[in-house]
Amino acid sequence: MNENAFLDRFELHEAEETRLYEMAKAEQWNATTDIDWTQPIRTSPKIDRDTALAWRRSTLSQFWYGEQAALAICAQLIPMVPDMSAKLYLSSQVIDEARHVEVFGRYLNLIGGPSALNPHLEGLLRTLLDATRPEEKLVGMQVLAEGLALDSFQDLKDATSDPLLHQILDKVTKDESRHMGFGILYLKRRLAKASSARRAEIGGALSGYARMIAEGARWSDPQLPPPPAHWDLKGAGESFGAHALRNLHGRLAQIGLSLAA
Ligand SMILES: [Fe+2]
Ligand SMILES: [Fe+2]
Repeated sequence: MNENAFLDRFELHEAEETRLYEMAKAEQWNATTDIDWTQPIRTSPKIDRDTALAWRRSTLSQFWYGEQAALAICAQLIPMVPDMSAKLYLSSQVIDEARHVEVFGRYLNLIGGPSALNPHLEGLLRTLLDATRPEEKLVGMQVLAEGLALDSFQDLKDATSDPLLHQILDKVTKDESRHMGFGILYLKRRLAKASSARRAEIGGALSGYARMIAEGARWSDPQLPPPPAHWDLKGAGESFGAHALRNLHGRLAQIGLSLAA
């Protein structure tokens, strides 16, 4: 695993990855001073406040655990990747993910603290933490899980009645778009040189990850109060699933992978 820990010269060969690293340095923000934490927590007047906050806690808890996994996996990748531009870029992503753990953690503490982690999501995150090769970690975390998170953040940002949460999601989404950009660029370059057997192996792992996500989408915390009568969770889940799947197919096509591979 550590054969790429030390490189013997400083050369930034990969112009696009270096550009993302420069962009990451220029776009850093501080969760303490760039978010207005004095804003009151708001919920929709159409929904009982305790119910709204219980459901919000559950959703944000999944994000928060996911961000903790993203932080750990990103740090694991640094000694695994074989070029300096990727190492430097990933170091910028480590601080981005730390900031995401911080903002979601702080917000959760304002609404009662984290609640249960979806066991299927936990299974996926543990599988990715334990993966021994960078391509599996990258395709699972950076393209599949972060792609889904990005789509969820955007959806929630448009729907939320809470200005503080909107501000957080706006900032996190910009970082996540950059992370996704790196994952696609890096995998496209690495997989262009991979054998067809290796591509099939990665495609197989990817299909396993997608199955865990599909199972996770059917789970909801049994401790949650019943949803408000006017919420169409099934319809919203189906339309989000179809939209997320379309985006995923588009991202995988850019790398030359597909779920059926
Ligand atoms: Fe993140
Ligand atoms: Fe990320």
